[in-house]
Amino acid sequence: MSEDSTKMLIESAYEASKNAYCKYSGYHVGAALLCGDGTVFTGCNIENSSYGATNCAERTAFFKAVSEGQRSFEAIAIIGYLEGNKPESYAFPCGICRQVMAEFCTGDFKIIVAKSVSDFRVFSLGELLPESFGAENMI
Ligand code: THU
Repeated sequence: MSEDSTKMLIESAYEASKNAYCKYSGYHVGAALLCGDGTVFTGCNIENSSYGATNCAERTAFFKAVSEGQRSFEAIAIIGYLEGNKPESYAFPCGICRQVMAEFCTGDFKIIVAKSVSDFRVFSLGELLPESFGAENMI
């Protein structure tokens, strides 16, 4: 992936984080998902007074993309920060989001965790969710 597309994804994730509905945690998360055809779907976290009904930013982006017919994915950028603050740590995807990624992506899918366009780290899904459970286990 080029440096330009990495930066574009991080900027899109940051823009999406501004729409976070996070009235309970005050923690904004934004994600930008790059599809195989070059389309980008963004997502933010959407909280709920029944906390377990909260949807993470990454899953929002994936569910938007899958519901629009996308099935091939290259990379996702994620950024998170407490309301009124700058991103102070890398926001890694939670376990449920990693499992959702594994449903649609291979181990080389790229996960970019960013504090800014110039401060980010890139991991593969295989690194963040090794030995995962998938459809191939159910044969
Ligand atoms: N959150 C995400 O959006 N993505 C993650 O991978 C981890 C957590 C959100 C959920 C909740 O709205 C807030 O961050 C605090 O947990």
